[in-house]
Amino acid sequence: MVQLSTPQPARQANPTIKAQALAYLIFERPDLAAAEKFLTDFGLRIALRDSDALYFRGTGSAPFCYVVRHAEQARFVGMGFRVASRADLEKLATLPGASVIRPLTAPGGGEVVSLTDPAGFTVEAVFGQTAVEALPHRQPLPANQTDQLPRINATQRPPHAPAEIIKLGHAVIEVADFQKVCAWYTGHLGLIPSDVQVLPDGAPIVTFMRLNLGDTPADHHTLAIAQGFMNTYNHSAYEVVDVDALGMGQRILREQGYRHAWGIGRHILGSQLFDYWNDPWSCKHEHYCDGDMFTAERPTGIHPVSAEAMAQWGPAMPRTFTAPKMNRAALRALWHSLRHSPDVTLRKLITLKRLFG
Ligand SMILES: [Fe+2]
Repeated sequence: MVQLSTPQPARQANPTIKAQALAYLIFERPDLAAAEKFLTDFGLRIALRDSDALYFRGTGSAPFCYVVRHAEQARFVGMGFRVASRADLEKLATLPGASVIRPLTAPGGGEVVSLTDPAGFTVEAVFGQTAVEALPHRQPLPANQTDQLPRINATQRPPHAPAEIIKLGHAVIEVADFQKVCAWYTGHLGLIPSDVQVLPDGAPIVTFMRLNLGDTPADHHTLAIAQGFMNTYNHSAYEVVDVDALGMGQRILREQGYRHAWGIGRHILGSQLFDYWNDPWSCKHEHYCDGDMFTAERPTGIHPVSAEAMAQWGPAMPRTFTAPKMNRAALRALWHSLRHSPDVTLRKLITLKRLFG
């Protein structure tokens, strides 16, 4: 079995497997109709409506990329990663706490091994899904630029409709045991840290990790892990075709009365144009386009963390964007992590508070 090495974040020489794609996210919601309304206004499409679950897809060839199961409490359950072979499933099935290989009862079928990461999130490894035919989507609008004028005697009229989502791009989680969780993803799924944000004392606080696809370019990040005092969902992101899709998507979501979180702006790490919206359970969902693509060759970047380091331009990041929801469960988690997590210290939390307000 792979020896998980720290300090993290760092790439590991011989990971158990190299994940090939972020396949889907799994949520539990008390109101499936409200979830469906938000997600379709956000730009996903229904792939399958089950008695107690909804499956959504983008226009791409993934049979689904988002599952909502009915449950009393709203909860982010975890993620599915596509793996390269059945042999990879067999390797993962030997890890502590792994399930046996079983059929995946979801659109596209295939087989799945269910794991739990050290933060308690479900991680499903999937192989053998049948891809679906991609759906047509609007092509990026031809922009007239100073030296290039593709549009003469013609106008720009993007449709007044939800932003078409092409694919699930990435998920971001906050964890207490940052070292252990990073080591699990780099060691077992072969993720590579693309960029790491650090505190003034050098302690890593956010790591943006990509898939190791060798010479095939991969999204700058597929999973990002942030140091928090509890294990929680931060946001997930979905690719749209261009900046007009971001802008029209914003208009539609605003008209439908949803709560805006942050945007439109351009990130620094990953370079995406972004726009963030809250779903009915105050969970952030991001539209993005024009992200960086890195091959496995590119080394890890190290950068100081701050609120200003999150975007090159756009409105200032609202204070509410990173502020944890302080309820009784959060206070309990804070107390527990301060006592038991080697990565959570009062000093670190005070520094973060100072940097992010
Ligand atoms: Fe993001």
